[in-house]
Amino acid sequence: MDGAALEREFKALIEADSRIEPRDWMPDEYRKTLVRQISQHAHSEIIGMQPEGNWITRAPSLRRKAILMAKVQDEAGHGLYLYCAAETLGVERAELIDLLNAGKQKYSSIFNYPTLTWADVGAIGWLVDGAAITNQIPLTRCSYGPYARAMVRVCKEESFHQRQGFELLYALSRGTPEQHAMAQDAVDRWWWPSVMMFGPPDGESVHTEQSMAWRIKRFSNDELRQRFVDMTVPQAEMLGLTLPDPQIRWNEDRGHYDFGECDWDELRRVIAGDGPCNRQRLAHHVQAHEEGAWVREAAAAHARKHAATASAAA
Ligand code: 3HC
Repeated sequence: MDGAALEREFKALIEADSRIEPRDWMPDEYRKTLVRQISQHAHSEIIGMQPEGNWITRAPSLRRKAILMAKVQDEAGHGLYLYCAAETLGVERAELIDLLNAGKQKYSSIFNYPTLTWADVGAIGWLVDGAAITNQIPLTRCSYGPYARAMVRVCKEESFHQRQGFELLYALSRGTPEQHAMAQDAVDRWWWPSVMMFGPPDGESVHTEQSMAWRIKRFSNDELRQRFVDMTVPQAEMLGLTLPDPQIRWNEDRGHYDFGECDWDELRRVIAGDGPCNRQRLAHHVQAHEEGAWVREAAAAHARKHAATASAAA
């Protein structure tokens, strides 16, 4: 088939809401934006283990410790699924990790904030994983098959993450006045960074239009942000906690909650590497990668030996 016919076939698959599979022809730009988004998604999952991982040894009970360990381990698995999905596009995981460690690829802004108290673990589960679910459920219908399929399992596990965070905050909110205050303080600090997690406003989003035309993205940043606010406000009422935005109010005409404006300068600063914990998070990841080099070398040596034995036996 010539180039024009391949392009027509690709467009027909997208128009038919079918899946593009690794074996299918795809425009270089489609491949490039998938590598960009999937690798940054994977990096986010892995770096995202740090804020909560900080509290595994400090969890207030064996039950809470077990729940948190399971959640953090899930995030590692999400990262691995997503690196595998990226590899189907012809990139090497090692190359992506080198780009992250060199500051040449991004991870989500949300993971550049400190976890100051135990209640932050609840706020991250409830708000950050709640935002992640809002963003990731539409990705289960992404036009690229491996990414969409990875999202199906990720979303099932995210639901557990969000529920355990909500339940943790529910317990604190109804605990002693000090526990309620700790929960409210965490929500005050994590609310706006979670709302900003959906990306810049639609007018500043450089990729949304094309990503939606290719059905990688199903909704714009602002549409998903609004969904998140609409879902979360009633939950905050159930928790007995207030969200730090005095402009939140139900708008009957719109059928949505009105809410205040994000601090877009803050989001731009954090994305550019100047957030509260950017340097710490990346330095920790680089150090862990370097300290783990011997494991990768041992696994590669074993694989070579195994391959040599297998070929000698053939
Ligand atoms: N943090 C860091 N960078 C961000 C960002 C954020 N919150 N929002 C946008 N950006 C970056 C984009 O990557 C892009 O930069 P690039 O060209 O160098 O990649 C630039 O800002 C412009 O933004 P756009 O809106 O044009 O970019 P996208 O169309 O890619 O939209 C996105 C951004 C909504 C994050 C989209 O990439 C996406 O949906 N990604 C998949 C989901 C994801 O990565 N979620 C991150 C959190 S993972 C998580 O929460 C795990 C959970 O288990 C806790």
